[in-house]
Amino acid sequence: MPTVPRVSAVPLYLSRTYHWAYLDRRTLPWLDRSLVVSAILWGNAGRLMQAAAEEFQAGQRLLQAACVYGPFSRMLAEQVGGEGDLEVIDVAPIQVANVRRKLDGLPQAQARQGDLAAPDTVDAAAYDAVCCFFLLHEVPPIERACIVHNLLGAVRPGGKIVFVDYHRTHPWHPLRPIMAQVFRWLEPFADSLLDTDIPALSAHSGDFEWKKTTLFGGLYQKLVGVRRG
Ligand SMILES: C[S@@+](CC[C@H](N)C(=O)[O-])C[C@H]1O[C@@H](n2cnc3c(N)ncnc32)[C@H](O)[C@@H]1O
Repeated sequence: MPTVPRVSAVPLYLSRTYHWAYLDRRTLPWLDRSLVVSAILWGNAGRLMQAAAEEFQAGQRLLQAACVYGPFSRMLAEQVGGEGDLEVIDVAPIQVANVRRKLDGLPQAQARQGDLAAPDTVDAAAYDAVCCFFLLHEVPPIERACIVHNLLGAVRPGGKIVFVDYHRTHPWHPLRPIMAQVFRWLEPFADSLLDTDIPALSAHSGDFEWKKTTLFGGLYQKLVGVRRG
């Protein structure tokens, strides 16, 4: 009997909070521009994308957890190369269609719809590497813990996971009050990420060696975990 692909519902936190940003076909073409992405990240988009992409290698099977505006998915597909395999999973069908368009001409890259907080969206130990770029701050704490747990479980022994996201700035950071307002108005779940120890969200974390670096006065973090082989 043919199997019917399972379609996850768009979570309420996404439709209620971020409809304007990710689910509206009128705003999507305006937001998915390098200039906008660069402005949102205070000119650091290229540097942050590069810092994530350089963690991966040609030939790897790489999972990108959720779509990202700008050229990031193409960068990852080019990093794993023709011998590798990039899979992008996003819960919003409009985002899956958009990233498929952006990945046109790169046969090593595919995208599919799925809820990364659900236990059966990604197979255990199926990937050499997983990249989670600016997803966790847009997700409420319970779903965030589920996503971290599922993504850690998806890394094969010897494989790697990379999180890039917001972080608590140094107290003197000139953007600290501005970012506090941005989070208050537009990103209601972000503040709860800033002091969170991401590995502590999952019981799998003890299987990994962790290294965290911060960038731009502590506003951003890159957290790399390597699963013991
Ligand atoms: C990666 S985050 C934010 C990225 C960044 N702010 C940018 O400029 O694109 C946005 C994506 O996460 C997706 N997303 C949110 N919750 C998800 C979940 N539980 N499973 C899969 N995708 C999810 C949304 O549909 C959206 O496309």
